[in-house]
Amino acid sequence: MDNRQRLIVNGGKRLEGELRVQGAKNSALPLLSAAVLAHGESVFHNCPQLSDADADCRILTNLGCKCRRSADTVVVDATNVVGSEIPDNLMREMRGSIVFLGSVLGRTGRCRLSFPGGCELGARPIDLHLSALRQMGAEISEEHGYLDCTAPSGLHGAKITLSFPSVGATENILLAAATAKGFTEIHNAAREPEIIDLADCLNKFGAKIRGAGESVIEAEGVERLFAGEHTVIPDRIVAGTYLCAAAITRGEIILTNCAPQHLNGFTPVLEAMGASIYSYGGGKMYLNCKKRIQAPPTIRTMPYPGFPTDIQAPFTALCSTAEGTSVFVETIFENRFRHISELVRLGASIKVEGRVCVVEGVKTLSGAKLRAAELRGGAALVIAALAAEGTSEISGVSYIERGYESIETALRSVGADIKKV
Ligand code: EPZ
Repeated sequence: MDNRQRLIVNGGKRLEGELRVQGAKNSALPLLSAAVLAHGESVFHNCPQLSDADADCRILTNLGCKCRRSADTVVVDATNVVGSEIPDNLMREMRGSIVFLGSVLGRTGRCRLSFPGGCELGARPIDLHLSALRQMGAEISEEHGYLDCTAPSGLHGAKITLSFPSVGATENILLAAATAKGFTEIHNAAREPEIIDLADCLNKFGAKIRGAGESVIEAEGVERLFAGEHTVIPDRIVAGTYLCAAAITRGEIILTNCAPQHLNGFTPVLEAMGASIYSYGGGKMYLNCKKRIQAPPTIRTMPYPGFPTDIQAPFTALCSTAEGTSVFVETIFENRFRHISELVRLGASIKVEGRVCVVEGVKTLSGAKLRAAELRGGAALVIAALAAEGTSEISGVSYIERGYESIETALRSVGADIKKV
């Protein structure tokens, strides 16, 4: 990734037109991990073309799988998984790689990986992952920054209660439980659509998982999984990001290849702000926002089906030009307001107190030089720049491209004046 790349945005253009929503990054990553469990060649459609997905393919190759992509179809041949180590450089590239722990353990009986570093959002501990896998028979030693995991007599089912409905921990448990001996119950499981997508795919591969999407998930271990074909669900956070971009420019947009039912955590907020939104068949979603948006009632990020933490940053950008004052409470991550100081450079009037952020809407923003420091915060800067008068320049593009397939091409196709240099 060339870190010198920048996005140049000339704001003030109204977005209107049709945008196709890419496959979900946070579903593709665990699905590519699930491929390790399948003896044979698995095919994944609608797999977004992102640096994070490419990193996953490098991990798969490193484990002995053959991984090839054509457009948004990724084929993984996991007939011969020979390795069980995820090298430090690949772990550092993407902490989401922790979700290989469950599948590599399940397939090979061991896994060695470096501790996934914290990230821009805070510590990102993995204690829930490790305690669950230990309950399933894994022996895990943590030393010199490495995790050495073995399951000498294989993994066995367990009744696991998560103190927090962690998405990653739920995914790792499902991946380990699919071929563990006996029954696994997960209580207080994450309910995100990506969990349902993973369970659907594992079941296509021969697993016996019930209840995904609810707080209690049951899995009956099977001997082995066989390869199959799966289409990744649409990315609900990318969809929400585009809706915010259209709304802040008082635009009109149709999203295609979208899953409207996955957006219920935040589309009511957009309606409360004065946007008119409706979904009509075939995965289409329509938004029209003819006038200046109004500040919404307090927004509190919650596990699914609540308001998603990943869409908080794009909404703080949208609210920066709303009429009235908005309050955000970030209950999931301890440090997810890093983009606020950049929004203030555009003229936004925002105060952060710990996990609370108060956004006093201003009538106009004016272009500035901005720096993205993480994925969703970077998307928020793009959204605000679209509405700012004059030119904005956003560096740290590689962060944004971890989650958004060529965001500048997508936005330009609906009228934004944006280019990458
Ligand atoms: C997934 O991260 C997503 N990443 C995140 O999206 C998303 O923000 C998050 O879920 C919440 O929805 C992927 O799917 C690759 P968690 P994950 O485990 O699994 C604490 C994006 O922008 N926790 O549900 O890491 C943790 O510190 C990314 O696409 C523990 O304390 O999220 C955090 O405060 C950012 N111990 C909270 O739970 C653990 O063992 C939520 O974490 C695990 C988590």
